[in-house]
Amino acid sequence: MASPQTCGILTVSDSCFSHQKEDTSGPALEKAFRKAFPDFQISQKAIVPDDLQQIVDTLNKWVSEHCNVILTTGGTGFSPRDVTPEATRAVIEREAPGVTYAMISNSLQITPMAMLSRAVCGIKDKSLIINLPGSAKGSVECFSFVQECIPHAVALIT
Ligand code: MTE
Repeated sequence: MASPQTCGILTVSDSCFSHQKEDTSGPALEKAFRKAFPDFQISQKAIVPDDLQQIVDTLNKWVSEHCNVILTTGGTGFSPRDVTPEATRAVIEREAPGVTYAMISNSLQITPMAMLSRAVCGIKDKSLIINLPGSAKGSVECFSFVQECIPHAVALIT
């Protein structure tokens, strides 16, 4: 039997990493992903601080393990510690601006603050990496706007 397709969920947050705050976005995303794609396996879950090198290292590790979809939550905004987009750009080989566009244009119907997202989406090897906002609500909303493309995107790059 073919091995299942896999998803990694990476929470990027100084406060969750240091246990000052509970990670609600990672579990909320996991629930949404499992509901949308019950045949996928959630193969990786982690929390890292807003540190460029740690984000890059985790993304590269999961890519090398052939994670089909990698969702990050957090660190896409304007504060000085927000470096998830830079880390993602350092890892990907090809950008997927349409995925980011779908997320932001749909999110603008919900909140004008969506324009503050600097999310980057792209491809490295057989992995599609998608940056989502840090709040549980925002991350699940944005996932809902892009989930439709995931099966076809994964089929194209696998
Ligand atoms: N998109 C949706 N759909 N819903 C949201 O609540 N929050 C916005 C934006 N995108 C939001 C959203 C806010 S307030 C910010 S600052 C940016 O995402 C970046 O969030 P991050 O820094 O937590 O990644």
